[in-house]
Amino acid sequence: VSAAKGDYKHFMQKEIFEQPRALTDVLRGRIDLDHGAVLLDELTFRHQELRQLERIYAIGCGTAWHAALVAKFAIEALARLRVEVDYGSEFRYRDPLIGERAAVLAITQSGETVDTLAAMEEARRQNAKSIAIVNAVGSQAARLADGGAIYLHAGPEIGVASTKAFTTMLVASYMLALRLGAVRGVLSADEVRRYIQALIELPGKVERILERQSIYEELAERYHGARDALYLGRQVNYPIALEGALKLKEISYIHAEGYPAGEMKHGPIALIDRDLPVVCIAIRDSVYEKMISNIEQVRARGGHVIAIAAEGDTLMASKADYVIEVPPTLPLLTPVLTSIPMQLIAYHMAVHRGCDVDQPRNLAKSVTVE
Ligand code: G6P
Repeated sequence: VSAAKGDYKHFMQKEIFEQPRALTDVLRGRIDLDHGAVLLDELTFRHQELRQLERIYAIGCGTAWHAALVAKFAIEALARLRVEVDYGSEFRYRDPLIGERAAVLAITQSGETVDTLAAMEEARRQNAKSIAIVNAVGSQAARLADGGAIYLHAGPEIGVASTKAFTTMLVASYMLALRLGAVRGVLSADEVRRYIQALIELPGKVERILERQSIYEELAERYHGARDALYLGRQVNYPIALEGALKLKEISYIHAEGYPAGEMKHGPIALIDRDLPVVCIAIRDSVYEKMISNIEQVRARGGHVIAIAAEGDTLMASKADYVIEVPPTLPLLTPVLTSIPMQLIAYHMAVHRGCDVDQPRNLAKSVTVE
């Protein structure tokens, strides 16, 4: 097993560093920059069916559920198609009204998560098609997906905490949103081309984030004794705040909560004291100013701010205790980049605390029983 890790200490670390490659592979053969088109030939829908779709139910568990939250932003923004997000474990128990012109989008690394599969079966019972965004080739989810299986081509993911599967799920979701947006006449070829160009540039930008490692060891050194941590994000980066908190919980056993920053005043603000690290995703987007004021509120109460910020944001250096920079991209695509510091913070904290990073206690890589 150690041979398979190569020069890396853990599978999770190896898989984090494989992301530039994985993000390149998920795009391969699916995009046509010259014509401004996303192909996704694996979808079995006729054009007419795609045009008539009225709703998508995006379903997943754990990290895949966070990908579903991002998919909602992408599909609603790019295809103007309504998306509801559900946990696999909740969907079938709420007697969902799927309806005829709806499809289920099941997102799953393993393709074997029982609750996600049950949601696909519920769709079938109600005569709705399902699409799977899935990593494991030939898995149950891939076979159940009568609307088509979009493979991530991320390669095997061994670490229990999902990393490269998550970021490739995001890219697969963007491609699906672009395809829907084009078919439904919401996006022009030029607009699709702009997104494709930005998607192509993501692997190199992830590479750039991965080159800067020393900050994470510094953070682990400083905060490994924390009992709790708070993660704040807004809009499309709110799911990434949730994902950052989940990662930290899963592998370092530090209690963490992800929150939409605007909700902080309705609860989590009571937790802020001198011992609380607060990870804030504060890139230059439409909610940047609001994030800045949230950061000021945290600092005013003695909390420590670790900001994930845009490259060259000099203002942030004066506002936060630590700044981790990410390169610029289109606002909707920023989660692919902001996810990387989330993974690395959790990884280094867990290593510093001596935790079993690849096999955290009580967790399974895929949950195949209810
Ligand atoms: C388990 C794993 C998580 C994963 C979730 C969903 O809880 O520990 O890392 O996100 O299952 O798995 P899936 O294979 O459906 O993506």
